[in-house]
Amino acid sequence: MDAKKRRLIKWAIVLVVLIALGVWVASRWKVWFGNPPEEPYVAIQTPGRVMLTFGNEPDERFVSWQYDSVPTQGFVEIVKNGAADTLRKAATAELFKSRAGKSVFYRVLLDSLERGASYSYRVMNDSLKTGWYSFGVQADSLRNDYSFVFFGDIQDEVGGEAGGIFRSVKAKNSDAAFWLFGGDLIERPMDKFWGEAFSSLDSISQTLPIMAVTGNHEYLKGVERQLEGRFPLVFPYFLNSSYEENAVYSFAYGEARFFFLDSNRDVWNLVNQREWLENELKAATEKWKIVVLHHPLYSIKGTMNNLTQRYMFNDLVQEYGVDLVLQGHEHGYARMSGKNEEADLKTPVYLISYCSEKQYRLYFKTEVDKYGTNDRFYQRISVSDKAVSVKTFTSNHELYDDFAIEDSCGVHLFKDFGKDIPQKIEVPEWFRKSKKEKRVKEYQKDIDEYLGRNSNFKF
Ligand SMILES: [Fe+2]
Repeated sequence: MDAKKRRLIKWAIVLVVLIALGVWVASRWKVWFGNPPEEPYVAIQTPGRVMLTFGNEPDERFVSWQYDSVPTQGFVEIVKNGAADTLRKAATAELFKSRAGKSVFYRVLLDSLERGASYSYRVMNDSLKTGWYSFGVQADSLRNDYSFVFFGDIQDEVGGEAGGIFRSVKAKNSDAAFWLFGGDLIERPMDKFWGEAFSSLDSISQTLPIMAVTGNHEYLKGVERQLEGRFPLVFPYFLNSSYEENAVYSFAYGEARFFFLDSNRDVWNLVNQREWLENELKAATEKWKIVVLHHPLYSIKGTMNNLTQRYMFNDLVQEYGVDLVLQGHEHGYARMSGKNEEADLKTPVYLISYCSEKQYRLYFKTEVDKYGTNDRFYQRISVSDKAVSVKTFTSNHELYDDFAIEDSCGVHLFKDFGKDIPQKIEVPEWFRKSKKEKRVKEYQKDIDEYLGRNSNFKF
């Protein structure tokens, strides 16, 4: 074969590869960069969708709500229970135009609140008012040993089941100081899914501080993805705490400090967040450190997932003695502790959870202490001077996992109380129905192998 012919064949191969690449990118374009259209909507015509969160710090509260699509003067009326005077605070109003409609978002910062006091408030626009809601600010004595509830992804469809679960979790954990969501509270940045989230949290979001980190489903996809504007308007504590335009937030509660990261950003912004996290960790004086982010630093969906996030944050997590990393995104339950050379379990503990109907195909690693599938989970996390205790429950409130990080003269020790609770790892129904038999068998084989290995794993 002469040189000219060889060159021609080489160029032909390059051309075929480029065409194949082009076809592949075109077929994935919508998945990577496209957003399903938002259906047109009309803003709610009475003040509603009320959300209570911490303020710039946990002794303050933000109240956010929505009403109509033309800004008017909004107010919060608040009274300390047992006191005579009702205070009226004017709201900041912001008109937000989404892809298919517009609505005005209001917010009021309630500062000068007293620890140990309880308050009643209502929101109003024009002559329209909500009913009265009550909330308390925990006394110092209660912050020595308090609990909060953590949820991973929700992403309910309209009319989903999360509302029923939330109500029963509230009834079982009525003493919780706040609820924390690990991102993807909503399915997509659309009015109907925000409506679903508010409906499922009704009577809870008005009375208990709801805290959330960002998830990829709160983002609009594009060549450069953007956090959709409704998220910080619903959770206004991000407005004053963002760092180089990254939605990060840190607060101390009792003996613990929490660090919220926005793991959905590109690498350049993750560099900024890394700088922020290092400064915050260095300055932290609290006994326990809890990092919350959406993308797990150790993925259970594949070996190559979330490597950027791990590269950016994991050495800081380990170097500065973070005790617990709370994560979501991968729609499975997984608890992974650190291991030393003797395979003793140690901190930090990396926890992934979800409370969603959706599940993904998981991959199993012996480093993970415990997995969970085919249910929805939530955590009740208790914080005291002596320990951070994490109990995971199924949607029926059965104890599924149980561990603690205990302080022993300044050393943080991992205690596994959940290893005898059987693991529930099953091929999900959707996978059985939609995948070829060969792939279902492969998945089942992975599960059997993991369970076989894990039962021999010496703690
Ligand atoms: Fe996600």
